Amino acid sequence: MIVCLCHSVSDKKLRKLILEDGVSDMKGIRRCTALGTQCGKCVRQAKEILNETVAFQYQQVS
Ligand code: FES
Repeated sequence: MIVCLCHSVSDKKLRKLILEDGVSDMKGIRRCTALGTQCGKCVRQAKEILNETVAFQYQQVS
């Protein structure tokens, strides 16, 4: 699923950045993808994906 239409960023790409590349905040996501830097409509959904993926990652460690 495409989260950011302006920059063609998918949910899969976001999860990969978080789980494999160690990105842990919106600043890091923006640095890697430019997500949210045009119309901004994707930011809320990207934050939800970030939060649930970080929570998932936390559960796997503990
Ligand atoms: S949809 Fe992401 S900046 Fe427009």
